[in-house]
Parts: sequence; structure tokens; C-alpha cells
Amino acid sequence: MHVALGLIKFRAVTRASRYVKYFTTLPEPKEPSISSASIPGPKSLELKKKLNGMQLAEMVNFFVDYESSTGNYLRDVDGNVMLDVYMQISSIPLGYNHPRLLEVFNNANNVKALINRPALGFFPGKDWPVRIENILKQIGPKGLNNITTMMCGSCANENAYKNIFISYMRKKRGEEGNFTEEEMDSCMKNRPPGAPNLSLLSFHGSFHGRTMGALATTHSKYIHKIDFPSLDWPIACFPNYKYPLEENERSNKEEDKKCLAQVEELIEAYEKKDRPVAGIVVEPIQSEGGDNHASPEFFQQLQCISKKYDISLLMDEVQTGGGCTGKFWCYEHFDLPSPPEIVTFSKKLQLGGYFHTLEFRPRETLRVFNTWMGDPSKILLLEEIINVIKEDKLLEQVKKSGKVLKSGLLQLEKEYSHLVNSTRGRGTFLAISFETPELRDTVIGKLRKLGVHAGGCGKQTLRFRPALTFEEKHANIVLDRLRKVLYET
Ligand SMILES: Cc1ncc(COP(=O)(O)O)c(C=O)c1O
Repeated sequence: MHVALGLIKFRAVTRASRYVKYFTTLPEPKEPSISSASIPGPKSLELKKKLNGMQLAEMVNFFVDYESSTGNYLRDVDGNVMLDVYMQISSIPLGYNHPRLLEVFNNANNVKALINRPALGFFPGKDWPVRIENILKQIGPKGLNNITTMMCGSCANENAYKNIFISYMRKKRGEEGNFTEEEMDSCMKNRPPGAPNLSLLSFHGSFHGRTMGALATTHSKYIHKIDFPSLDWPIACFPNYKYPLEENERSNKEEDKKCLAQVEELIEAYEKKDRPVAGIVVEPIQSEGGDNHASPEFFQQLQCISKKYDISLLMDEVQTGGGCTGKFWCYEHFDLPSPPEIVTFSKKLQLGGYFHTLEFRPRETLRVFNTWMGDPSKILLLEEIINVIKEDKLLEQVKKSGKVLKSGLLQLEKEYSHLVNSTRGRGTFLAISFETPELRDTVIGKLRKLGVHAGGCGKQTLRFRPALTFEEKHANIVLDRLRKVLYET
């Protein structure tokens, strides 16, 4: 019996090791190379036609050969090799096929975590508490000693909003307060007092996701929202700065003041109309909305307002978190006297979720819950990503390559001021704006033909979202290709 079991085990291990031998990482090419006459090339077009027969695939730019993409370079199915400074909408932290991440699944136990996906809220694996403790210790924002894991950015925000409402109502009822019969009955009919008329304040231009609650706080493009019923929640203006910042200090300060005054006005107005604001939801840099920045002072004052009205502050770090701004969390640039109560994450961290204070933990079970509550295989990746960030000093790397890219962009802005303006950003989380939306789109298209894959955001902004492994040499290639495009435009 023992021998037979041993044999089965041995075969499984051999099969697993045969499987993992398949993993390879190609060296990065020296520079991009484009072989098809246009992008998408013929093979991409063919695949797009096929996919379009089964689902709406209009947004597909091109199809990718993920097996042979490597580091900062993506290879499409037509053999075009592009320097990727968009990285799957800012969600690949270490570039393609990083050997250390491939190595994670060169381990039979980890492969088992991949295929035996648990309902984490009910049946977590034996290693789960230690893994969660490790993540909290390594990257948990100071003072936020609880974590709720989820799947994506939208569901991180969606569920964090529920925690805000739960905590608000608990304060209102008092610690000993219980749900009333009327509350339990009315919530089943979507009516107050059980489903109370509470609200969250968000900002024009923000993007917090596409599920119904998150969408009520998203205001970047109408196409995300149209035809969907939504909630009467307050929306304040986010600062709209003039660049360069050094030359526009006074007017930008005025802009901060105006927006902050509006935040307070809205909180008071919604209190009066019996739809009190339970929390403020904000991105440290409005990303999808056009890389709109606000000063540390703006965020400090915003936090003061949240404390004054005893409401929560949620910082949505889904796009900014993970080191791309030169700090692990972007809000660390703001010198806040205390951390925001909730920090949501996803994208580069692979796992979705949020860090929060104990106060936001529901007393009752199953109020913030779903089947999977995250994914253990993603936490394995996240652990290794954090190790690599530390060992390879990638935050320092981001600062160095970001400096090269930003100073090059500022120089191009000087030379081509009739085309580009408003270079801005932190670390490699950088952006430039163009005179018109059409010009921005043309430049992105031409850059791609020269082998640089960048993305757009807002109306007329080009955003850079490279991996944390982006180096000065990559920044120089981007600048060289962008210079060519601007020269020809
Ligand atoms: C700031 C921010 N919040 C939330 C989301 C939604 O994340 P997901 O697309 O994973 O649902 C995004 C996505 O781009 C984002 O940038």
C-alpha cells in the first residue's frame, strides 16, 4: 500500500517538474522592432475577426504572445516587439515572465494553491493566517492593521464602501445598539431605515470602478455610466492645476481652496437633505480621469475635513499603489498626520482588497463576503513581488528612471510647446497632455509604430505606466521615439 502511494506521489512530482521546466525567460531585446506594416498586423486582425464573432472585441488593440514577451518588452502575434510603458493598464509590476514569478509555480505546493481555489471566508488553507500577517507587516499602511482581500479594484472599493456604511451606522446606534425589527424588515424592500439614505462624497473626474456602487463614485467618462441607474451622492470638483506648478503656485492654491470649500458645502447640504455623507472617496492621483494631481496640502486639508465631520477617508490606491510613484503608497507623499482609514488596492499587487483600521471590521459575519474573498495563488505572487521590490531596490530604480523620463519630457515640452504641455507626475507615474484629443491619439498610434506602447487617459493625456523594472535605458528609448514622433507631427 505504502509503495503504491509512494509511486503515485513520485509520478505527480515528476509530471509537475516536467511541467515547470517549460518556463523560460528570454533576455530583453536591446530595442523595439516592428515588422508588420501596421499595428494591428494581419494575424491580430484575423484573431480579432474571430473573437468579434463571439463577443464585442472592438477595443482589442492587438493580440499578444505572452509566452515570448519578456521584461519591459511585449511581443504581439505578428512578431512586433514593443517597449511596453502601459503594462496592462498599470497592472504588471515586474515586467513579463519575470523569472522569480515563474519560479513561484516551480513548486508543487504552490501549483496546488493555484488549482485548489478555496472559499477563503469559510475554509482557508493552513498557511493563510501567516501569509496575511506577512503582507500586513511588509506593506500594510502604518496604523491600518486589518486587511480584507477581494478580487479586483472595483470589488475592493465596492466592499470597502460597505465597511464605511457599517461603521457609520454602528457609531450612530452606539456600540450596544442592535438592529430593530423595522430596520430588518425595511432593508428587505430597499427602504430606510434598514437601507438608510447615506452617501459617499467623490470627485468629478474620478474613477473607482464599474460595479454599481463604485460606479456611483466614478465620473471620468459618460460611456462608463450611461443607462445605469445611480445614486444621488455628492460630487465635488477636484483641483485642476495649471502647469508648470512653480509658475502657477498662487492660482493652484486658490484652486485647492475652492475645491475644499465645495467639499464642506456639499457635506453640509447633504446632511440637510437627509442624505448624510458617511465618507470621502478619493484617488491620490486621478488616473483614468487624466492624471490629475492635487497638492499634499489639499490632501492634508481633505483629511482635516473628514475628521471635522467624523466621516471616513478612503484612498483608492488601485492604480497608484505598489511603488510606481517612488513610494509604495502614493499617499505617503502627502505627509498626512495619520493614515487614511481605508486604502484600497489591486492591479500591480495582483490581489484586490483593502487595508483598514479595526473600527471598520463588521461585528457580524457575512456582511462583507463573497465566495472566493481573494485568491491564495495571487498572494503567493504578491509575496514574491514584494521580495523582488526590496532585494532589487526597485523603488530607488523607479525614482531614477522616472527622473530621466520626466526631465526628458520637460525638455520635449519646451521644444514642442505648440504640441505638448503639462508634464507631471511622481516616479514613473508620469503624464503629458496634448493640444487636442486627436493629436494625443495620433501620437500614441505613431509611437506604437516606432515600437513604444503607451496609453491614454482623460481627454488628451498620454500616461506612462511602465513596470517597476523600467530603467534609465528604457526611458531614453521612449524619449528618442517620442522626439521622432513630435518632430514629424
Ligand atoms: C483608481 C482605480 N480604482 C478602481 C479601478 C477599478 O479596478 P478594476 O478594473 O480592477 O475593477 C481602477 C481601474 O482602472 C482604478 O484605476
